[in-house]
Amino acid sequence: MEITNVMEYEKIAKEKLPKMVYDYYASGAEDQWTLQENRNAFSRILFRPRILIDVSKIDVSTTVLGFNTSMPIMIAPTAMQKMAHPDGELANARATSAAGTIMTLSSWATCSVEEVASTGPGIRFFQLYVYKDRNVVRQLVKRAEEAGFKAIALTVDTPRLGRRESDIKNRFALPRGLTLKNFEGLDLGKIVKTDDSGLASYVAGQVDQSLSWKDIKWLQSITSLPILVKGVITAEDARIAVEYGAAGIIVSNHGARQLDYVPATIMALEEVVKAVEGRIPVFLDGGVRRGTDVFKALALGASGVFVGRPSLFSLAADGEAGVRKMLQMLRDEFELTMALSGCRSLREISRNHIKTDWDTPHYLPAKL
Ligand code: FNR
Repeated sequence: MEITNVMEYEKIAKEKLPKMVYDYYASGAEDQWTLQENRNAFSRILFRPRILIDVSKIDVSTTVLGFNTSMPIMIAPTAMQKMAHPDGELANARATSAAGTIMTLSSWATCSVEEVASTGPGIRFFQLYVYKDRNVVRQLVKRAEEAGFKAIALTVDTPRLGRRESDIKNRFALPRGLTLKNFEGLDLGKIVKTDDSGLASYVAGQVDQSLSWKDIKWLQSITSLPILVKGVITAEDARIAVEYGAAGIIVSNHGARQLDYVPATIMALEEVVKAVEGRIPVFLDGGVRRGTDVFKALALGASGVFVGRPSLFSLAADGEAGVRKMLQMLRDEFELTMALSGCRSLREISRNHIKTDWDTPHYLPAKL
């Protein structure tokens, strides 16, 4: 069957993958309300397209933290990609470079920062979990820097792991032969079977629950890389992130895997954008599956979006070729959305090109 949209990869991945792996990738926390809401909220935003604009040339390119990228669609960090496909993170890195965009490598990757760097040139960010042992963090950040990673995405929504019930039922553990490659030499690379989710036990043992704002300063003292704060969903925290010198914010609820009943990220985005007042770029991840979703996020003030699960399911279905096709489909759909909305460049996408159900009723324009 021909794949014509990103969502179709999930069905194929479900058929191909062992249940424990598929459930780990797909699931959200507890009732999975936020998981559904991350998708549903996009459907409550409608377009106000402008017509009779010459759209014979469309430019979807942009810059992210000063780096030129082919499009505002990037890859979010997702852990343990070799469970999806033997090429794992290497395939995601190659596909992202080929598409001219940015990949974020998870701390919990099954390939090391050095292995990913060895796939060739490309703009890559490194996602950081802060361990109790700060020497581990110091070493890891240094290695990422030396391997040519361009920014640190500091994940701030995971002092403890959210309760993902299928991982508990499945007694989730890393399959034999795989390790968290970045931590292998430090003897922290294994996720073993426990009478809980093995990952939840690992996080409880290793991740620093005392992480707080002052640690952003600490991180700045050990690296010169720009720091993106990943997991901000309120105006209050957005303002503090700016004060502490964050280079950018990623509005994220961790793919609905941490605190359930937080709003969809697309609904939290605008309050963060307003609080930031243009001082730093704001990005979004969570539920992005269509080019129309990308456009909606940009219309609400995002500088770009990241996709998580689509990069895992397309990888499981068809390796590097799958990820390439996934990125190409999102790009094509986004470009088409721009054309049909009368926008020729990202700069032309405005708040007036959409109408949300939290604007005034009767679908009147936000501001004429
Ligand atoms: C994640 N996410 C994540 N985030 C992070 O900071 N470090 C990590 O290691 C992981 N690992 C991870 C594994 C899996 C299986 C998923 C689904 C997600 C969260 C990820 O970066 C991103 O926030 C969400 O995936 C975005 O939502 P969508 O695109 O998956 O809906």
